[in-house]
Amino acid sequence: MSVPRPEIEALFSERREFAPPPELAAHANAGPDLYREAEADFEGFWAKQAASRLTWSKPWDKVLEWELPYAKWFSGGELNATYNCVDRHVENGLGSKVAYHWEGEPGDVRALTYSDLQREVNKCANALVELGVKTGDRVGIYLPMIPELPIAMLACAKLGAPHVVVFGGFSSDALEGRMIDSEAVALVTSDGAWRNGKVLDLKSAADVAVDHAPTIKNVLVVKRTGNDVAMTEGRDHWWHDTVERQSDQFDPVPVDSEHLLYLLHTSGTTAKPKGIMHTTGGYLTGVSTTHHYIFDIKPEDVYWCAADIGWVTGHSYIVYGPLANGTTSVMYEGAPMFPEPDRWWSIIEKYKVNVLYCAPTAIRAFMKQGEAWPGKHDLTSLRILGTVGEPINPEAWLWYHATIGGSRCPVVDTWWQTETGMILISPLPGVTTLRPGSATVPFPGVSAKVVDADGKEVANGTGGGYLVITRPWPAMLRGIYKDPERYVSTYWRRFPGVYFAGDGCKVDADGYFWLMGRVDDVMKVSGHRISTTEVESALVDHQAVAEAAVVGRSDPVTGEAISAFVILKSHIEPSPALATELREHVAAKIGHIARPKQLLFTPELPKTRSGKIMRRLLRDIAENRTLGDVTTLADSGIVETIRERAGAGESE
Ligand code: WTA
Repeated sequence: MSVPRPEIEALFSERREFAPPPELAAHANAGPDLYREAEADFEGFWAKQAASRLTWSKPWDKVLEWELPYAKWFSGGELNATYNCVDRHVENGLGSKVAYHWEGEPGDVRALTYSDLQREVNKCANALVELGVKTGDRVGIYLPMIPELPIAMLACAKLGAPHVVVFGGFSSDALEGRMIDSEAVALVTSDGAWRNGKVLDLKSAADVAVDHAPTIKNVLVVKRTGNDVAMTEGRDHWWHDTVERQSDQFDPVPVDSEHLLYLLHTSGTTAKPKGIMHTTGGYLTGVSTTHHYIFDIKPEDVYWCAADIGWVTGHSYIVYGPLANGTTSVMYEGAPMFPEPDRWWSIIEKYKVNVLYCAPTAIRAFMKQGEAWPGKHDLTSLRILGTVGEPINPEAWLWYHATIGGSRCPVVDTWWQTETGMILISPLPGVTTLRPGSATVPFPGVSAKVVDADGKEVANGTGGGYLVITRPWPAMLRGIYKDPERYVSTYWRRFPGVYFAGDGCKVDADGYFWLMGRVDDVMKVSGHRISTTEVESALVDHQAVAEAAVVGRSDPVTGEAISAFVILKSHIEPSPALATELREHVAAKIGHIARPKQLLFTPELPKTRSGKIMRRLLRDIAENRTLGDVTTLADSGIVETIRERAGAGESE
């Protein structure tokens, strides 16, 4: 693990406070008693949620079996995730309620009621069965934000086939790695995706990946953009041919509470993404409970989580949480600023959105565009605002609160991870007094603390340390697919007995948690997790590169931006053209989100005597800061050399 960053020293203290609006507090789903109730008996609390929010086809025998670091929740119980998210709502008379108001980037719209969703999911499930998919098989999904994405996920869950969704902006290499890791038997993709008015060709990327992933026998292709695509006879099937002709009846397959619901890969500190495992009963309990209380969801609400389903935020808070709760959601396909920077605000006005959940990077990008854009629209339907993905700076929080929320709406800053599956630290909007920049306190039933390097709890109000979670929670990851050793070493070895999140944090004198960014070699670029090592391997993969080091430097819009330091092979001359080529090479290997914003050629890299790259120094250089302590450098002159000679690079 790298040395904690200077900001972990907790120098910042934000003083402003916002009490819950009395009217909202009076009718809130959660009152202060929820904390007391959960604290008195956390297993009982989760059992009550699981029993009251979900429909089980077989009751569980035991609420929690905890054999550190492996948890089983509601063992012996059986249920079906899709039955809980769709069918039972139709049975309960909610068939004509809208599940998704979907809007495509070009402006086309589709409203899917719970009955529509049930019918489409059943047809898709029948098509998957026809293509040979069986309960337990993994199915890859590589789609843009179109209704077929949640439909395909729910179809998988209906037959108990774990899905492996890969973000549509990832490259063919990234898709290939995830398909091979999960041994997927089929892939659902589309001809293309709309992004900023242009077509991204997904099918060609999928073809390259499928050629190298021999377990994939069939590919189901949605026609979305109408671009020309090659279809491989016998392997590729158009959705409109194969799904449309299926029966719209499909009996949900009841699965064990601990049956794998999905794998979702995320970056860690090595070049190989981890397949995070989420199972059925505990996960659904966790996401539906947090969605209900944190967003204070009412039956008539229109809720919009503006994330992409390719990330965990979309899995938990566009698909499973809101659908389990029978909520009406908005789903938008395209780029936030397309065709103009008021696209989001026009969507909020049009659908009268009550709850908006998005990332700080989006808020900062809108802030840059000025208040005139939101000012053109009626945003008074909004009642609650949420953020997720990275620390939100108080300026952005206050802008969001005032300009978007009309100073009326509580902002719930929610801390969680792909691994945690559900929100763990967050305000409750009718209970918690907010402090801009703080995710406030652990959710009822969740227990977190901050420890120092020796694992000793840091007393409130005294300083920063490492965030750990000290008791199991129902949506927690059940492991890393096919890599139990990495599961233990990444999360459970650093501080024995507790879950190590990899985030720096301080707790103030009143018990509020202030998240301070990653303490490992993971960057957060526009809220997306990208490993420095993964970008370094992509660079070294280029034939001109001898060695590379990558750091995240702070950026006013994207939070962190990628800076790459590259040593070329001896016979290669640096040039701006080569810098561009290398940046594009990374985009092609991983995806456009990983393209370095800045790339510098350097003759050497600062290393410790043991040969470890000193990223802190590189970060100082990238941010043009005064240098910190360099005494552990193998060659202390190297930093000056890098500073002077780093040239011929390129910045965006
Ligand atoms: C960061 C996203 C501060 C954190 C759901 C965590 C946050 C990582 C917040 C997980 C927040 C997420 N405040 N930091 N409210 N939410 N993070 O897996 O560093 O994409 O470890 O999950 O995002 O990112 P992931």
